[in-house]
Amino acid sequence: MFHADPRFRTVIEPFRLKMVEPIHFPSRDERARALVDANYNLFNLYSELVTIDLLTDSGTGAMSTEQWAALLRGDESYAGATSFRKFERVVQELTGYPYVLPTHQGRAAEHLLFGHFGGPGKIIPNNSHFDTTRAHVEHTGAVATDLPTPLAADTQVEAAFKGDMDLKALEKLLTEKHEQIPVVCVTITNNAAGGQPVSMANLRAVRALCDRFKKPMFLDAARFAENAWFVRDREPGYSTMDVRQIAEDAFRLADGCWVSAKKDGLVNIGGFLAFKDESLLDPLRNGLILNEGFPTYGGLAGRDLEALAVGLTEVTDEDYLRYRARSVAWLGKGLEAGGMPVLKPFGGHAVYLDAKRLLPDWPADHFPAQALACALYLEGGVRGVEIGTLMFGKTDPATGVQSPAPRELVRLALPRRVYTQAHVDYVIEVGTWVARHKHELQPLKIVKESPALRHFTAHLAPR
Ligand code: F0G
Repeated sequence: MFHADPRFRTVIEPFRLKMVEPIHFPSRDERARALVDANYNLFNLYSELVTIDLLTDSGTGAMSTEQWAALLRGDESYAGATSFRKFERVVQELTGYPYVLPTHQGRAAEHLLFGHFGGPGKIIPNNSHFDTTRAHVEHTGAVATDLPTPLAADTQVEAAFKGDMDLKALEKLLTEKHEQIPVVCVTITNNAAGGQPVSMANLRAVRALCDRFKKPMFLDAARFAENAWFVRDREPGYSTMDVRQIAEDAFRLADGCWVSAKKDGLVNIGGFLAFKDESLLDPLRNGLILNEGFPTYGGLAGRDLEALAVGLTEVTDEDYLRYRARSVAWLGKGLEAGGMPVLKPFGGHAVYLDAKRLLPDWPADHFPAQALACALYLEGGVRGVEIGTLMFGKTDPATGVQSPAPRELVRLALPRRVYTQAHVDYVIEVGTWVARHKHELQPLKIVKESPALRHFTAHLAPR
């Protein structure tokens, strides 16, 4: 435990490398051409034209030696595989929920869950829906209502738990629209609000409201371990508690969860649904068989379930979580020192650049955050993702006017156990350069879009 030695402050990567994957260094001219070919949508870039890929922390992590070893133990039996039972036991011990359904990733679990709970006339409250969650809720005809703490609106307030649910707003909604609400959801950490954690006090208060109004409570727990780390770090009364214990307690406050295991499951593909209520088992399992696969593999191979069982156990390792939080904060502080406005405090999996503060005069229909994301790619081959009007705004079909998103952010998400401090330092340099040359950024317009999740496929062009 080198951290215990107060003489040394550097938090080193708590692993050494056993295998390497080359990264690519296209020239600035090649990147400029690639941007045009990609229609200024970074999702359309070929990965070999990206130098540092911070598009997402989802499915992009490096597995450990134990996980690679576990792959060989995968039991690929169609039914009753030992790998499933191992995975099921790990999830049951972590969450306390008896029923566990594997899915190929988080949105497949969302499809099943909201296929059951959603439908026209229904309202699903959440501290903030992630984009796929919102899309699945809305796809059923239900309304996805975000109720983030008012603190989340200010990107500069250094509050400890900006991921919290607005309890007053939830109470009001539950009072006024009681009949229409089938389930209350909380996303830990709150990705759409900046990877910000939710406090245990907030989870307990949501639980109390759910009890009072007799509603089930579900966690979108993709980043449950990072959330637990911040609770230990920031919430009074938790500083000496095991992170694993905090995570277990959080799950036990809710009635169920869905998890994109591509984040804190430390795997490249996977997800699951888990819950307490036996009456949910039949409808959800039937949906699983129809859409994903037999209940003992869901949408996954036996080997995936083995790797996930190990990942879910490794992720609450405190050396790992300390390094992870410190890497994100290092990136954030470096960018801020270089003149790039950033969302604060720094969250669990990413640094969010605040394009509205960098480019205060830009209207939403110039897509300032997308323009910033394109500039980071053009100048340094760094790929992030826009979380602003491209992702969450809408074009009025009659007038063509953009409804703006509340914030214009670029998320730089750190894949787990992949990049070293030198990579992060390089990103800081690129961000600093772009901030200093912000007057050269090119405003964009949408030239083609699809009705749902438009940011994945939209075509843009310079104005
Ligand atoms: N919920 C949250 C909070 C997420 O962040 C994601 C995915 C999902 C659900 C959906 O899971 O991708 O496995 O289907 N987030 C990724 C991201 C894509 O980049 O933040 P999935």
